[in-house]
Amino acid sequence: PQVTFRLPDGTEHDVVCDSGTSIMRAAVQSGVPGIVGECGGSALCCTCHVYLDEFIGSQSEINPVENEMLECTASPRKPSSRLGCQVVLGSDNDGATIIVPEAQY
Ligand code: FES
Repeated sequence: PQVTFRLPDGTEHDVVCDSGTSIMRAAVQSGVPGIVGECGGSALCCTCHVYLDEFIGSQSEINPVENEMLECTASPRKPSSRLGCQVVLGSDNDGATIIVPEAQY
């Protein structure tokens, strides 16, 4: 799928990735700033925090570990908050926009 990452300054980065790639991996592989992924995708660091207000297509449910980690994000948690490493992209997410928060630390 192709997805768009929108940075806090309004800059947009279009990224094409394989189905089965997490939001965090897609961003890191393409050098999108503002998504760190420090723990490598284990839901242990919160540095892959994203807002999915403008997401389209399916997304996984928030699991209990992710839910707990979302309480310690650097930017405020919103109803649309997810850890980017816990959301896997598929073809039905084509055209989705992913909003990058102000800070990850
Ligand atoms: Fe660490 Fe997602 S990469 S929580």
